[in-house]
Amino acid sequence: VTHQLKSPLVAIRQYIEAISSGAMGEIPAPVKEVLERCSERADELLKMINDWLDMSRIESGKLAEKMVPINLAEVLDEAIEELQPLAEENAIEIIRMYPERVPPIKGDFDSLKQAFSNIISNAIKYNKPNGSVTISLRDSDEGVFISISDTGIGIAEENLPYIFDEFFRVRSKEHPKLTGSGLGLSITKKIIEAHSGRIEVESRLGEGTTFTLFLPRREIE
Ligand SMILES: Nc1ncnc2c1ncn2[C@@H]1O[C@H](COP(=O)(O)OP(=O)(O)OP(=O)(O)O)[C@@H](O)[C@H]1O
Ligand SMILES: [Mg+2]
Repeated sequence: VTHQLKSPLVAIRQYIEAISSGAMGEIPAPVKEVLERCSERADELLKMINDWLDMSRIESGKLAEKMVPINLAEVLDEAIEELQPLAEENAIEIIRMYPERVPPIKGDFDSLKQAFSNIISNAIKYNKPNGSVTISLRDSDEGVFISISDTGIGIAEENLPYIFDEFFRVRSKEHPKLTGSGLGLSITKKIIEAHSGRIEVESRLGEGTTFTLFLPRREIE
C-alpha cells in the first residue's frame, strides 16, 4: 500500500520541479510562487501519508515482536543529533541531564527514537528564540522516566486534553508559520503504549511545556 499511495505524489512533485526549474520555458514569478506552494503542500501530504503508515504499523502490534534490550541514553542521543540542525536554525539550546548509561529496557530502538524525536522537535518548533530544551533521564526500580521540558509558547489548558488526538493542532494567529499534520503526538503515544509505558504533559501558556514519559523495565531474558 505504501508504494501505491506515495508514487503518484512523488511524480507530482517531480512535475512541479520540472516546470519551476524553467527547463520547459521561462515562467513568470507569480506562477513560480504558486508552484512553490504546490510543492510545499505536496510535501505535507507525503509526510502525512508516512505518519499514517507508521501509525497503522504500530497499531498492528508488530512492534512487540521486535523488542530487544536497548540503552535509552543512546536512543535519545541519536534523536538529538538528528535534530541539532533544527535547533541551531531556531537558536534553541538542547541541554542533556542524564547519566551516560542507564540499565537497558526492552523496546524497539527505531520506534522509541521516533517517539522522542516527535516530542523534541515539538519542543524546538514551539519554543521561543534563544529558548532551551532540557532532556533528562532518571532510572528507578520499575523503569525509566524521561522528561523533555521546553521554554516555549506553552499550551492553553483547554487544549491540553486534545493534543494526543489525531490531526489536532492548536490554531494560532500569533504563530501562522508553525505547520504540521497534527499526527506527531498521537504516533508518539501509540509507540509508548506499545511499550506498556505512559506519557503525561504539563504546560503553562507562554512559559513552557514538559512531557514526562515512563517506560517500564520488563523482564529481559
Ligand atoms: N512543546 C510544545 N509546546 C507548545 N505546543 C505544543 C508542544 N507540543 C505540541 N504542541 C501542540 O500540540 C499540537 C499537536 O502536536 P503534534 O506533534 O501532534 O502535531 P504537529 O506538531 O502540529 O504536527 P506534526 O505531525 O508535524 O508533528 C501542536 O500543533 C501544538 O499546537
Ligand atoms: Mg509535532
